[in-house]
Amino acid sequence: MSLVDRCRRYATSVAPYYLTTPIYYVNDAPHVGTAYTTVNADALARWHRLLGDDVYFMTGTDEHGAKIVEAAEAHDTSPLEWTNRTSARFVEAWKRLDISNDDFIRTTEPRHHAVVQEFLQRIYDNGFIELGTYTGLYCVSCEDYYTADQLVDGRCPVHDRPVVEMQEDNYFFRLSAFEQRLLDYYESHLNFVRPTSKRNEALGFIRGGLNDVSITRTSFRWGVPVPWDDAHVFYVWYDALINYLTVASYGSDPQRFATLWGSAHHLIGKDILKFHCVWWPAMCMAAGIDPPQEIFVHGYLLMGGQKLGKTMIQSGVTGQGDEAQTLKITEVSPLALADEFGVDPLRYHLLREVPLGGDGDFSYEGIVARYNADLANNLGNLVSRVATVVHSKCNGVGPAPSPDSSLSASSAEVLRATSDAWARWAPHEALEATWRLIGATNAELEASEPWKMDPGPVVDTVLGNALEVLRIVAILISPAMPSTAAEIWRRIGVEGDPSAVRLPEAAGWGAYPGGVPVVKGDPLFPRRKG
Ligand code: MSP
Repeated sequence: MSLVDRCRRYATSVAPYYLTTPIYYVNDAPHVGTAYTTVNADALARWHRLLGDDVYFMTGTDEHGAKIVEAAEAHDTSPLEWTNRTSARFVEAWKRLDISNDDFIRTTEPRHHAVVQEFLQRIYDNGFIELGTYTGLYCVSCEDYYTADQLVDGRCPVHDRPVVEMQEDNYFFRLSAFEQRLLDYYESHLNFVRPTSKRNEALGFIRGGLNDVSITRTSFRWGVPVPWDDAHVFYVWYDALINYLTVASYGSDPQRFATLWGSAHHLIGKDILKFHCVWWPAMCMAAGIDPPQEIFVHGYLLMGGQKLGKTMIQSGVTGQGDEAQTLKITEVSPLALADEFGVDPLRYHLLREVPLGGDGDFSYEGIVARYNADLANNLGNLVSRVATVVHSKCNGVGPAPSPDSSLSASSAEVLRATSDAWARWAPHEALEATWRLIGATNAELEASEPWKMDPGPVVDTVLGNALEVLRIVAILISPAMPSTAAEIWRRIGVEGDPSAVRLPEAAGWGAYPGGVPVVKGDPLFPRRKG
């Protein structure tokens, strides 16, 4: 192979990037909390596509367990009918929010049952699953057992509902056998769990001592049957975690599995840290496969009992009423918010407002404030003032940028900062960096006031540079706001789709062609009153 061919091959070799969200329970409709995880994962997937990575991004629904049976009974229907109905709501919601998932798994699918049985049979054959008797205090909402001292006033500490005493003959996973192996694994894989605060939480849990966990149930049939004992179905968490393997073709396509599983990244919320950061790597070890490459644990959006207007609840998730109501985050529909603010502004808010990894407030007032400040006054204003002046001074034809603008250096710096932030799972910082470039360009226009100048080369240069910034900005915001990015390109006369380019090349200064028509349109983000 010639050197040129070798270089070409190197240049075109792509890195696999397998990204997962948790699979969501179908006892409820999609809410702002589940949308938060899904939008963040989607933006990250889109960013990695811009880098040229071979991204495989999945989400789905978790459809077994007592909680689903309860929800189906409450709605006077069968578990299967209920899961069909509710899973479809997730598919629709994510479509509406422009989620670019490559696969959507439902744990009731035959492909998943087959993988669960094969994987757990392997763990059983390896001697890490045993029969025993379990007595404990069970919360149906958590699908988890508690000890008496973990309860608050005798109730589940997470759901504030009564727990039930259960006794079952169960199969147990010998989690205790993995204490030291897990500690060693964490020691040798410093970025296995991020951020550090969550890694420390997981380590604290392991160091506190691991008990064996019960992994099967006999009290109901709504689950994956245990292949070596008909009387049992697997406990929902034990089936759910395995979804990540099902999508990666475990047991059916070894080559595809090796590629995807070797590059597996899980994004999860802090509520399910123990399952993902303790049980899951131990299960992988017990079955003889590597744990996933990385688990990023995000915090919680909190609403602190704020009053929300009826517009936020109009989609019917919570019932209606003209009066403001006090809602929990799990009662707020992301679709109602998308109707009210637009899909891209909602996505932007979910990515920008709260640093991923920490907890943060979510409020109606917060969305309005950020919408007005960042979208209406900053980005939207830049797009419309540039188009307006191109029409008044350049007959609606966008001029080319100059090679030596100070904005060229700013955009190079912003590209570096944006890339660095995405690599650290920090979408809020990535967007903050991009907004520095938008702010600098608005400031430059205000300083030079091209709208007061006579048409000519100076005006052309100022506007050409601003148009080039908009071309680059559209690429950089495309993971967060894909439709807005495409619309900006359309308005400034650039062909193609900003989500389909390759970085870093496409964001290099000077590619705005000039001599192309610029469209004046309605404001991208009309100001809101609040
Ligand atoms: N089915 C399990 C996950 C199995 S994964 C193998 C589950 N489902 S869930 O529907 O309850 O979704 C939990 C996830 O929703 C959290 O981990 C988090 O990603 C997201 N969120 C739920 N409420 C949230 C907030 N208030 N804030 C942010 N994210 C939240 O657990």
